[in-house]
This record gives sequence, C-alpha cells and structure tokens, in this order.
Amino acid sequence: MAIPDEPDAGGTTDPQDELRQIAAQARAHLAALGEKRLTRVLRAAAPVVSVAAAASGVSAVSAARVVSAVGAAGGVSAAGGVSPAGVVSAARVVSAARVVSAALVQVREELGDCRRCKLHATRTQIVFGAGSESAPLVFVGEAPGASEDEQGLPFVGDAGQLLTRMIEAMGWRRETVYITNILKCRPPGNRNPEPDEVAECEPFLARQLGVLAPRVVVALGKFAAQSLLRTDATISSLRGRFHEVQGIPLMPTYHPAYLLRTPSAKKQVWEDLQLVMAELERLGVRAPA
Ligand code: URA
Repeated sequence: MAIPDEPDAGGTTDPQDELRQIAAQARAHLAALGEKRLTRVLRAAAPVVSVAAAASGVSAVSAARVVSAVGAAGGVSAAGGVSPAGVVSAARVVSAARVVSAALVQVREELGDCRRCKLHATRTQIVFGAGSESAPLVFVGEAPGASEDEQGLPFVGDAGQLLTRMIEAMGWRRETVYITNILKCRPPGNRNPEPDEVAECEPFLARQLGVLAPRVVVALGKFAAQSLLRTDATISSLRGRFHEVQGIPLMPTYHPAYLLRTPSAKKQVWEDLQLVMAELERLGVRAPA
C-alpha cells in the first residue's frame, strides 16, 4: 500500500483539504486491504449470480466458498474489531449467500408439485433437502422413507438418528451440513428406486449440488453412490476412497439403515468418515463453532 505523504509542518489546515486527505487515505486503505479478497469474492460470486440470473444450469461455486475465502482472508482485526475491508467483504458474503438461497429456491420451484414420475401418486410430500445453504459438507441418501414422507424432511427416522450421530462424531452439527436424497419422493413400501425415477429426479440433485457447491459429498449407500458415479460397481468396492462428482470429492460409504442391520460395518464407515474429515482439513474447512 502506498502511504500517503505526511502534511509538512507548514501544510494546510483547511478542514476541506483535511477531509479530502482522510477520504483519500481511507480509499487507499480499503483498496490495498481489500484487493485480493475482493477479487476472490467477486470471482467466486459471479457464477452464482449468473445461476440466479439465468435461472438455470449448474454453478461450481457457492457462497460457502465465498464465506471460507473471506474467513480465511480475515476481515477481523487483531484487536477483534472489524476492519473496513471486512465490512465490505461481509456485505458481499451476505449477498452471495442470498444468491445461493435464491438459486436453491429456484430449483425447488422448478421441481414444483412434481409429477414427472409415478412416485407422485403415492407420496405424501416432496422431501427436497435440509440443512445449511453454506454447508461445505453434503450427505446424499437414497430416498425418503415413511417418517421423511410424513415430515417432509430427510433422514428423520431411525437411520436419520444414526446419521445425526455420525455427523456429530465427525465434529459437525446436523444443521451445519446439508442432507438430501437421490429421489425426492418415497417409493411405496420403501422399495428400491427404479431407473426411470432416478432419471427424472437426478437433474434436481445435480442442480442442488451445483448451487451448494460443497467441498465434499458423502454418498450414503449403494443407490446414492451408483447414481452419483453412474456405475454398477458395488458399494463395498467403491467405499474407502474418494471419487468425484461435478468436480467435488465424493466419498461413498454404507447407508445408516444398513448399519442398523449390520453394526459390524460401523468400523468401515468410521474409516470413510475419517478420510472425509482429513480431506476437509486438507482443504482448510473447519466445522462451524
Ligand atoms: N433413507 C434415505 O436414504 N433417505 C432418507 O431421507 C431416509 C432414509
């Protein structure tokens, strides 16, 4: 940053000049402090803005990244006060978060009162997803069960309670991650999803992931892993290592419902979740306080 010249001893005392100098100093300070940060924020926010503006497509960037970019860059002074650049950045974070929120609302609105597949006839309600819209960590399950169909929220039954404990064991809280499913409607009797149902529903999950742009996705169970990775490979051959979906690291692991039936598999799931925790740490992502 260029330090403005000190006025010399015989310099002006005109209050107007003094104000102009103070304003110039403030502008220089903001420009210098904010340059890198604002560049990152604007670069990150632009595709999100265009998602909202274009009302379509998939963005690879989200407010989550904006938040972590700004968080990493500071904005809070050593004395604990918020710097002017921090205020500017915070304002941009808020607007980027609003854009993500609006983009998610848009995806939900386009899903509408969906009748694209036969599940609409037997469902009580659509279960879109729940959690933090700035979540760096997203869990994707298979499809709503009876409790989810009744409450309109993902993973609220027995398997959901186990998932909550898994999330907490990782050091996160359920409300700081985002949880959704491949299918947004309950298959009758909790039967397996059918290919035409997955084909109709999948684009909405792709758009959710595009808008949220998490740092890591965890696929819960065979259907989530196979659908996201477009493979027929078994879950036991897929789990334990990272794959990629929409450019995001994806860890497949066993479904919590399977763990309820097969508690001995918890050890492997914990190994998978530890890999997720290590990846988040490597990416500089920490669980919110
Ligand atoms: N199982 C799932 O896969 N998703 C839910 O939401 C609940 C149970």
